[in-house]
Amino acid sequence: MTKKQLTITQPDDWHLHLRDAEALNSVAPFTAKQFARAIIMPNLNPPVTTVAMAVEYLDRILAAVEGTDFEPLMTLYLTDNTSVDEIIAARKSCFIKGLKLYPAGATTNSDAGVTDIRNCDAALDEMQKSGLPLLVHGEVTDPQVDVFDRESVFIDKVLQPLSQRFPELKIVFEHITTRQAANFVLESGDNIAATITPQHLLFNRNALFQGGLQPHHYCLPVLKRNIHQQALLGIIRAGSNKFFLGTDSAPHARHKKECACGCAGIFSAHAAIEIYTSIFEQQGVLDKLEAFASFNGPDFYGLPRNSKTITLVKQDWQVPDEYPLGSDKLVPFLAGQTIHWKLV
Ligand code: DOR
Ligand code: ZN
Repeated sequence: MTKKQLTITQPDDWHLHLRDAEALNSVAPFTAKQFARAIIMPNLNPPVTTVAMAVEYLDRILAAVEGTDFEPLMTLYLTDNTSVDEIIAARKSCFIKGLKLYPAGATTNSDAGVTDIRNCDAALDEMQKSGLPLLVHGEVTDPQVDVFDRESVFIDKVLQPLSQRFPELKIVFEHITTRQAANFVLESGDNIAATITPQHLLFNRNALFQGGLQPHHYCLPVLKRNIHQQALLGIIRAGSNKFFLGTDSAPHARHKKECACGCAGIFSAHAAIEIYTSIFEQQGVLDKLEAFASFNGPDFYGLPRNSKTITLVKQDWQVPDEYPLGSDKLVPFLAGQTIHWKLV
C-alpha cells in the first residue's frame, strides 16, 4: 500500500551552512521550519575559530530564527594553530558540538584550513579525551590528484592514518560521495559515522552536464559516478545507524553560481526533509527514514532525540525558480521541479 501521510520524530540537519548577515536572515527560517537542530558550519569569512566568535555567531543565528525553538549546534573551524586551551574552552561551553576540518584550499573559505593534520595533534588529542567530534571535509587538495579521486585518496592518506593514531576520536565523515567512503565508515568502529546529502543520493556526475553545464548541481565534494551513487543508496536501504542526515545546504547568490569560476554549493534547505522523504520512498524504505533523519545523529553526538514530531503528506508541489538571498537571488535545489511530499 502506498503511504499518503507520514509522521516522524522531528529531524535534525547534521551539516548546514547558514552564512551570515542578510543571507543568514534569508535562509535560516527554511531550516528552522523543518529541523529542531542543525550543526552549523564555521566557514565564514573570517572563519569561526574561537569560542568567543562562535558565541557571537550563535546570537546572530538566534536573531534570524526568532519566534522558533530551533537550536543551532555550533562548531569551530580547526586550523594549524588551534590550541588545546581552545578545545578545553569549547568542551566547557557545552554549545560547541565539534571541530570542522577543512583541508586548506579544499572548498569555500578554506584558505585558513589545515595544511597538515599532524599540526593538529595536540588539539586532536584533547578532542579525543573530551569526546568532542571532528567533522571532516574529506578531500585531499593536491592538484595532481584527479578531482573525482580526492575523497578516496583522502581516506588512504589522511583519514585511515588519523583514525589509527587517534583510535577513540569521534569522527563524522561529512557528505560522503563514494563507495570507498561508505565502506570505510562501515568497517570502522562506533566512533566513526557519516552524513549523506540529498544531491549525492539523487544524482551522479552526469547531472553536471545534462543538456549543458549545470552550475546548480556543482558542489564539493563533486558528484561522482553512478556506482558511487548506487553505493550510497545501498547504504540507506540497508539502514545502518552509522549514517545520518546532513544536507550540506550551501547557499550562493545566483550570479555567483552562473558565471565563470562559479561557487561550489547546493542550497537544499527549502525542501530538505521532503526531498529525503521522496528518496526513501523511491528506494522502498520509508520505514528507515526516521532513524536516518531523527535518531542516528543525536545518538552519535550523545544528544537526546527530539520529542516533537513532524508530518509529511503525499502531495505534489513545485519548487520556485528562485528565492531571495538578502538583496540577491538564490536558485534552490530542484528549482521548477515537482516534489511529491510536503511538510504539513
Ligand atoms: O559545495 C560546497 N559548498 N562544499 C563545501 O564544502 C563548502 C560549501 C560552501 O560553503 O559553499
Ligand atoms: Zn559543507
